[in-house]
Amino acid sequence: MTRILTGMQSSGKSHLGNYFGMMKQAKALQDNPSNECFYFVADLHSFTSKQDPELFKQNQLSGVLDWLALVIDPEKSVFYRQSDIRAHTELLWYLSCLTPFGLMERGHAFKDKTAKGLEANVALFTYPILMAADILLYDAEIVPVGKDQAQHVEMARDLAQKFNHHFGDTFVLPESQIKEEVQTIPGLDGAKMSKSYGNTIEIFADEKTMKKKIMSLKTESVELGQPIDPETCNVMAYHRLFENPNLAKLEADYRSGSIGFGDSKKQLFELVWDYFADARARRESLANNPAEVERILKLGAQKASAIAEAKLQNVRTKFGLSANHLA
Ligand code: TRP
Repeated sequence: MTRILTGMQSSGKSHLGNYFGMMKQAKALQDNPSNECFYFVADLHSFTSKQDPELFKQNQLSGVLDWLALVIDPEKSVFYRQSDIRAHTELLWYLSCLTPFGLMERGHAFKDKTAKGLEANVALFTYPILMAADILLYDAEIVPVGKDQAQHVEMARDLAQKFNHHFGDTFVLPESQIKEEVQTIPGLDGAKMSKSYGNTIEIFADEKTMKKKIMSLKTESVELGQPIDPETCNVMAYHRLFENPNLAKLEADYRSGSIGFGDSKKQLFELVWDYFADARARRESLANNPAEVERILKLGAQKASAIAEAKLQNVRTKFGLSANHLA
């Protein structure tokens, strides 16, 4: 059995970049019976950028629903909210005490923010340590992440090594796994799809919005009736991503000039809309059944907590702490 773990920030609506960058891979890993997957909504991490309780609740729920609709089979994976497991924040403290200041200073999330002259809080600085706690509590071996998170997984590995060296074998050394081919999805403007660029297509947008977004995908300027190079066309990149069954014909039509961007986009919309039809139905049914969502989250939290608490107890003992009187 290989233990896989990953967390996702709950900072808004999931978009196609999230799906192809991460969720699709997470689902494939879950469906492989030789894996044991731990997937959680990293809600505590969102406080480093915003502390707005109403927005927080909205984003937390939408993160949970998106993952349940698109990825999670609660029979196969342990699915939970980071904030349900208090061991994460306690381990953060113990790990902090072993973390060299310089290691965090090299963290790119922190460096990027301060380089832009933005004010960073201490939590943003120690963000990678909370992420290390998320990973190390569960003896995760493989951590599937986007390219931008690879450094954080390295840091978790460094901290595990340091801890093991100081206290004896305690933590498994995690490794990141980055899916190369689909790391970056082009956004509406052709740049990497990202919330911070405002060029995203939300997976669960309503039909009208989704259509409007797809119709606004940026393309080269080619006159109608003229051939288009399918290799350089953004819309074509999406047709491939969504495994259009008529790809060969479409490419031929591009080359002969018998299809324009407008028609290609209309076809793409149909493809995308159908692709997520089941997930959309699942999400809607869960959204209308909060008790079922609670049941799944409770089950996940119970399973996760049993593992996390045992590991935490081990760590406490290593530091010389006696058993908690309240335990
Ligand atoms: N920082 C990750 C992101 O922004 C989310 C995350 C939090 C995470 N804890 C994690 C990912 C632990 C993997 C493992 O995407």
